[in-house]
Amino acid sequence: MTVRIAIGDACFASESDETVLDCLSRNGVSVPHACKSGVCHSCLMQVTDGEVPDAAQKGLKPTYKKQNLFLACQCKPEKDITVRLPDGAGLDTRALIVGKDMLNHNVMRLELRGEGSFACEPGQYITLINGDGLARSYSIANDPTKDGRIELHIRLLNDGQMSTFLKDRAAIGAFLTIRGPAGNCFYVREEGDAYPIVLAGTGTGLAPLYGITKQALASGHKGEVQLFHGALKDVDLYLVTQLQALAQEHPNFRYVPCVLKGDAGQFYQPGNIEEIVMAAMPAEKTRTRMFLCGAPEMVNALKRKAFLSGLASKHIFVDAFLPSQAAAAHPAP
Ligand SMILES: Cc1cc2nc3c(=O)[nH]c(=O)nc-3n(C[C@H](O)[C@H](O)[C@H](O)COP(=O)(O)OP(=O)(O)OC[C@H]3O[C@@H](n4cnc5c(N)ncnc54)[C@H](O)[C@@H]3O)c2cc1C
Ligand code: FES
Repeated sequence: MTVRIAIGDACFASESDETVLDCLSRNGVSVPHACKSGVCHSCLMQVTDGEVPDAAQKGLKPTYKKQNLFLACQCKPEKDITVRLPDGAGLDTRALIVGKDMLNHNVMRLELRGEGSFACEPGQYITLINGDGLARSYSIANDPTKDGRIELHIRLLNDGQMSTFLKDRAAIGAFLTIRGPAGNCFYVREEGDAYPIVLAGTGTGLAPLYGITKQALASGHKGEVQLFHGALKDVDLYLVTQLQALAQEHPNFRYVPCVLKGDAGQFYQPGNIEEIVMAAMPAEKTRTRMFLCGAPEMVNALKRKAFLSGLASKHIFVDAFLPSQAAAAHPAP
């Protein structure tokens, strides 16, 4: 079905089964986007005339829905609509870059300070938008409500647009736009909090897990907390000393670095993180809460294995770090 999508003075006919994001991008209208899966919220737009399907507002806050905001990557309109890019008021905050340092050979810590108050939970994610409209999501590794500082762990990719921008061009003292927070991968203190917690992640999947672990321990969580951090080689691990110190401080916390291409007899466990985690699953499966973050393949595989082993799906919280997807190609000039 073809519908017309109007924006500003322009109007485009969508192709069959095409999203608003793809239709606009195909016609040369730039709309920030990253995951194209309804996760990062970087493609938020506003409908000013017409209706969008429910799927285009799935997971949005009620206040966003009230403002007729929708996700352009999830929106396949059934009738003609008029849309616009939101002006950012109430959606986005400016944040000052206050720190940059390397946590290992390819993970950079980026510290931001939001303008005004910034309510979030450690483990949620925000979307960074730079001056060119490039948008990517990053997980929050600390509790920003304490001192206003937002800590992110950025994996530097050789050909990564945002990670290269953040490493080379984003200077301390410059501003970025942040959208969010979003996501439900965070610690919630519950009545009788003696249940076991298992956290597992690869690479910068450690960022949200570090935030959640520290939050649970600082809240006085009484059950066993096990954190598994997977890496290909030992040099890919990071925050090892800090996590070992945390384990010394809290007898109920166990830190297990896992190295796929590792040797026996080291400070880490050699082998596949999925096998190491499954071998260490607590006996009380029905009470265990699990947090999985990082590479989508690992997150999805462990989620399935944990569920099949007896964990309730409502107790498994996941953040798959979906890579960015290109929008539809622009027509040749
Ligand atoms: C909810 C959520 C939370 C996230 N949290 C974090 C976080 O805390 N830390 C973090 O570093 N990233 C995180 N990501 C991923 C992040 O948003 C970006 O996708 C990532 O930083 C790459 O962006 P880039 O612009 O540097 O690379 P891009 O320009 O997007 O990609 C460059 C190339 O690398 C490929 N690529 C992208 N990601 C990967 C990957 N993981 N492995 C292999 N190839 C890849 C792309 O397909 C492309 O070919 C998260 C993603 C989501 C959806
Ligand atoms: S939610 Fe649309 S691009 Fe991520």
